[in-house]
Amino acid sequence: MVKICCIGAGYVGGPTMAVIALKCPNIQVAVVDISVARINAWNSDTLPIYEPGLDEVVKKCRGKNLSFSTDVEKHVSEADIVFVSVNTPTKTQGLGAGKAADLTYWESAARMIADVAKSNKIVVEKSTVPVKTAEAIEKILTHNSKGINFQILSNPEFLAEGTAISDLFNPDRVLIGGRETPEGKKAIETLRDVYAHWVPVDRIICTNLWSAELSKLAANAFLAQRISSVNSMSALCEATGADVSQVSHAVGKDTRIGPKFLNASVGFGGSCFQKDILNLVYICECNGLPEVANYWKQVIKVNDYQKTRFVNRIVSSMFNTVSGKKIAILGFAFKKDTGDTRETPAIDVCKGLIGDKAKLSIYDPQVNQDQIQRDLSMKKFDWDHPVHLQPMSPTSVTDVSVVWDAYTATKDAHGLCILTEWDEFQKLDYQKIFDNMQKPAFVFDGRNVVDVEKLRKIGFIVYSIGKPLDDWLKDMPAVV
Ligand code: NAD
Ligand code: UGA
Repeated sequence: MVKICCIGAGYVGGPTMAVIALKCPNIQVAVVDISVARINAWNSDTLPIYEPGLDEVVKKCRGKNLSFSTDVEKHVSEADIVFVSVNTPTKTQGLGAGKAADLTYWESAARMIADVAKSNKIVVEKSTVPVKTAEAIEKILTHNSKGINFQILSNPEFLAEGTAISDLFNPDRVLIGGRETPEGKKAIETLRDVYAHWVPVDRIICTNLWSAELSKLAANAFLAQRISSVNSMSALCEATGADVSQVSHAVGKDTRIGPKFLNASVGFGGSCFQKDILNLVYICECNGLPEVANYWKQVIKVNDYQKTRFVNRIVSSMFNTVSGKKIAILGFAFKKDTGDTRETPAIDVCKGLIGDKAKLSIYDPQVNQDQIQRDLSMKKFDWDHPVHLQPMSPTSVTDVSVVWDAYTATKDAHGLCILTEWDEFQKLDYQKIFDNMQKPAFVFDGRNVVDVEKLRKIGFIVYSIGKPLDDWLKDMPAVV
């Protein structure tokens, strides 16, 4: 029986391995992690991540051909294929700080594999890594090989959170990169056979190692670039009276462009877009390509601009000050259907409002107080280190309360901001909310989920990204 071990039981390692176990009953899959709390949660009824459909998949396989363990060395030494899906954060200090990928966790995983291996292994890069990482990993493994043969493959993951299980069941493509040697080709075939249990072979793309590594960075950069493009248009829409939803619908109807990833928002978040673009920028700079680096840097600059613009709209609408005012924040996760808050635009928006001395009342159906407090007090990039290495009890942020429903959050508030597009925010009783708010009552919709006209009829002053402006806002500067 083929044995697979995955190092890293996170948002990628957990769901991908659970789906491999489900689709390949003849393969034994072990997911290992250094975090005892995470592994305990994977073995409990409350999984460590919220992802629609994940519970069912895990319940079907756990205890059969799927296990979660902290005994990293045992499972690695027994495995034929070792996936590595550990964190690859942005470096916070030293060479390339603020841009380059920090491969500390990857390197320590590779050294551990070399230490404990007693048989030949295929080592698969599942984490998103800089181009040429495989070469470094190969060197670590071969210099410590004790005669064991290691084949390195790059098999980047393209799942999106919130839809991870359906993305894994029905991927647009699976990408496998490997060495173009007979041993490399054989390793590619072995991994292709795993996916071929459920993915049509014409959707399994095989390339060389460097193309696979770069394709992952390129795919995320292209997706993020579309969002920054539409967000840049949203600013122009507000200035001209055009409606960004109509513009993106018209633009997306061109089959060469397509409709996806054209929703204007308060900005993209998530653990990867910014990290991977910074990483791409650094690689371009290291390869003497400053023009290319600057092109991609702009995608992040527009994203930051969009978040700042949103905060400034709020402050300038509310008589240029939010000091002492209660502002309800509806949604904190970086997108709907996940409890993940990594790089969520809500962090920057909340920090901006707190900087102007607002009192925040935050509600998100999947994010708890502890997480929100950590996010608002943590230093930039610290979040992407294993949980046990993050500050244990960061100083809590006063002037922030976290509540468990939208009506409590908005009671007596001067304004409400929608920062995540949870479906339930469309169905709220906005008349009731209006009746219980201070007047004038403001709505700032960062996800274009509310019916603007309906809310204006109720009496709200409404700002919705990229939509024709309320008379109240027309003469106010977008950026102050
Ligand atoms: P994560 O932080 O959720 O999980 C990583 C896990 O690795 C953590 O639980 C950590 O404790 C563990 N770990 C770190 N070093 C270890 C070691 N030496 N031994 C054992 N365990 C170790 O991260 P994630 O979101 O799953 O992302 C993992 C990688 O996949 C990143 O490179 C990311 O860029 C990439 N990726 C993420 C997504 C996503 O949607 N989150 C999608 C595609 C690719
Ligand atoms: C993204 C990619 O979609 C995945 O293919 C990739 O595997 C993953 O990054 C990764 O490498 O981590 P994810 O970040 O989970 O997935 O979620 P997305 O659906 O891409 O959304 C990212 C951010 O963009 C969210 O904040 C979302 O609200 C925002 N977004 C998305 C928009 O503002 N507008 C859109 O039209 C689409």
